Amino acid sequence: MSKAYSVAVLVGSLRQDSINRKVANVLVELAPVSLDLKFVEIRDLPLYNEDLDANPPAAYNAFREQISSSDAVLFVTPEYNRSVPGGLKNAIDVGSRPYGKSAWNGKPGAVITVSPGAVGGFGANHNVRQSMVFLNVPCMQQPEAYVGGAGTLFDEAGRLVDRSRDFLQKFIDAYALWVEQHKKL
Ligand code: FNR
Repeated sequence: MSKAYSVAVLVGSLRQDSINRKVANVLVELAPVSLDLKFVEIRDLPLYNEDLDANPPAAYNAFREQISSSDAVLFVTPEYNRSVPGGLKNAIDVGSRPYGKSAWNGKPGAVITVSPGAVGGFGANHNVRQSMVFLNVPCMQQPEAYVGGAGTLFDEAGRLVDRSRDFLQKFIDAYALWVEQHKKL
């Protein structure tokens, strides 16, 4: 392979001590050489307002460019009230416009949700997928990744406990294959 695929990683939590961010960092560590994972930050995006697109804010332009120039997109997110955190939904909306120029179009995607709760963010996971269907992002189906009980995933030193490492390795390896199979030609 001549070059690694660049993967935009979007974390749905803005919290400094975010478990999702920690899991995303582990995925960066575990990713095979065929994937080059880069965080694309969503915290500074103004709430999407079509009027702003007459003269888009610099943050919209920069975000759209970061997504457009990536080969693939990976969502790592908590669930808020059984749905997608507003900040992440806003980022999805910003990237989808102006109409006909969606930055997401055709990029192979994957979604992993992480929650201290038992359901593992199933609702948020499928809400992201719902938007991705419309945005023409083929999302990896298997392995599904609803990581529950995540309050004990990391020890006090911030190290991942062993029980989940194998699953995260399986997930990112499957995604590397997915990106290769579904890359935009
Ligand atoms: C939550 N949390 C939560 N958890 C869950 O499994 N299902 C849910 O519907 C919700 N709803 C929810 C709403 C709001 C507004 C907050 C702030 C939190 C709990 C959530 O999973 C927990 O705070 C995680 O630790 C958030 O992820 P990060 O920030 O640690 O990555």
